[in-house]
Amino acid sequence: MSSLEALIFDTHAHYEDPVFEDNFDELINEMKNSGVGGIITCGCDKQSSLKALSLAERYEIVYAAVGIHPGNIDNGTTIAEIRELLSHPKCVAVGEIGLDYYWRQDNKSEQKEIFKAQLQLANELGLPVLVHDRDAHADTLEILKEYKPKGVVHAFSGSVEMAREIAKLGLYLGVGGVLTFKNARALPAVVSDTPIEKLLLETDAPYLAPVPHRGETNNSAMIHYVAEKMAEIKEISKNEVLIQTFKNAKKLFNI
Ligand code: NI
Repeated sequence: MSSLEALIFDTHAHYEDPVFEDNFDELINEMKNSGVGGIITCGCDKQSSLKALSLAERYEIVYAAVGIHPGNIDNGTTIAEIRELLSHPKCVAVGEIGLDYYWRQDNKSEQKEIFKAQLQLANELGLPVLVHDRDAHADTLEILKEYKPKGVVHAFSGSVEMAREIAKLGLYLGVGGVLTFKNARALPAVVSDTPIEKLLLETDAPYLAPVPHRGETNNSAMIHYVAEKMAEIKEISKNEVLIQTFKNAKKLFNI
């Protein structure tokens, strides 16, 4: 890779996933050689948040986010435990937090309660949030309007109208492999409509690998395909996409 080439900042990955356990040293070197310059790896409960922090301690380009994912609210992690982990010097955000009505609808009020408590915590500590919103657009937007956190709606899957509301709140939109899918639905229109200053690149690795690697284990180097697609939609160069989204990530996460 030429040193003039712009670098990738992956604002949302799960490298604490067991699938990466055996060869992460090798993978991180490969990713660095492919132009990856920054990664945020996100916990989903206490155990995975601790793992995210230990990866951040070990690798210079890796930062951690700590939080309780809506799918993990029943496994015993407390807000007090999250608060304690957030004081780690390489923890840059509260996440992954939010609402998921795709997997469960019977515990909506508990999901909202845990989401709100973590937004409160983020605001109190001046940290940005990584928001998960799956099939819960209306409630997510209402709660974000109420708490007005700094942060990003990751794997954004809403409409152009919702994207405008999110941007109005000062929040960023996280865009990953889905942008390259044939069934990306509103996402290309959302990317076209949103100023590049409000977009972030992400993987959600090991999930959501972009075309032509759809279905494989995702990693941050595959963001090249997403950046290419974004460049095509925004009619700018891929380098400009990488430079601006890297800048956006550094600004939001205070890196
Ligand atoms: Ni995620």
